[in-house]
Amino acid sequence: MAYETILVEVKGKVGVITLNRPQALNALNVQLIADINAALDGFERDDNIGCIVMTGSEKAFAAGADIKAMQERSYPGTYLDDKFADWDRIGQRRKPIIAAVAGFALGGGCELAMMADFIIAADNAKFGQPEINLAVIPGAGGTQRLTHAIGKAKAMDLCLTGRFMDVNEAERAGLVARVVPLAELMTETLKAAEQIASKSLPSLLSAKESVNRAFETTLAEGLRFERRVFSALFGTHDQKEGMAAFIEKRKPEFKNY
Ligand code: CAA
Repeated sequence: MAYETILVEVKGKVGVITLNRPQALNALNVQLIADINAALDGFERDDNIGCIVMTGSEKAFAAGADIKAMQERSYPGTYLDDKFADWDRIGQRRKPIIAAVAGFALGGGCELAMMADFIIAADNAKFGQPEINLAVIPGAGGTQRLTHAIGKAKAMDLCLTGRFMDVNEAERAGLVARVVPLAELMTETLKAAEQIASKSLPSLLSAKESVNRAFETTLAEGLRFERRVFSALFGTHDQKEGMAAFIEKRKPEFKNY
């Protein structure tokens, strides 16, 4: 399938989505979000895919929602058409997603990166929620996911001042899982993605769902959830295979069931 605003590739068991509106620093418009969702739908359906990578260009992961497309919007229109419901679908995917971020990840770009399960950032990456400069606020989860990720003090600092955070500060704050030189961003990210994709899919989906529970429920309920999921995995072929392979000192052959 040909897309207008993204490039889509499959590398082994990894699906790669590259945002591709260079003239607008990958500003996120309705088409781009629809294209990402269509590509993710395909990767979620494809049993061969075990991990997904979302990336942009060296200059910009994405410089935010498309300001030119938003400028003339009205209050009831924005409220009623609820375009962010389409963005939400990106954050609700079941397979692991890594954001490989170089350059600007601002506003909706930072929010999109935070919808991934973790971020690997190039040493030139810059993160921020500069919506306040436009007299609005983050609208695709920034006030919530950023606060979960880096705490109230820094989230308030970024959302109220609109300043950008460099990659070292972002790593110290816990927004970014790994920092790598710009030239190695894709090789390092693909290495991580291949490592993930080599695991058994039921355990990957379960791990993702369980970690995400930590953000949605109490510790006691989260622990109960984890225990139920842990027990359930003993009903899979791959659990038997994984443990047998360990004991027999060989590589496991997972079948995703
Ligand atoms: N929307 C639309 N177009 C954008 C854009 C955006 N978010 N960001 C950049 N562009 C466009 C610019 O208008 C420019 O296009 P033209 O050449 O046609 O003028 C082109 O991309 C290149 O941008 P600059 O010339 O500005 O590049 P720069 O290197 O000088 O600056 C930048 C880079 C600091 C990222 C600057 O472009 C910038 O501040 N962009 C806007 C960042 C922003 O405010 N993001 C939040 C958007 S609102 C939002 O995201 C809401 C939400 O929560 C979902």
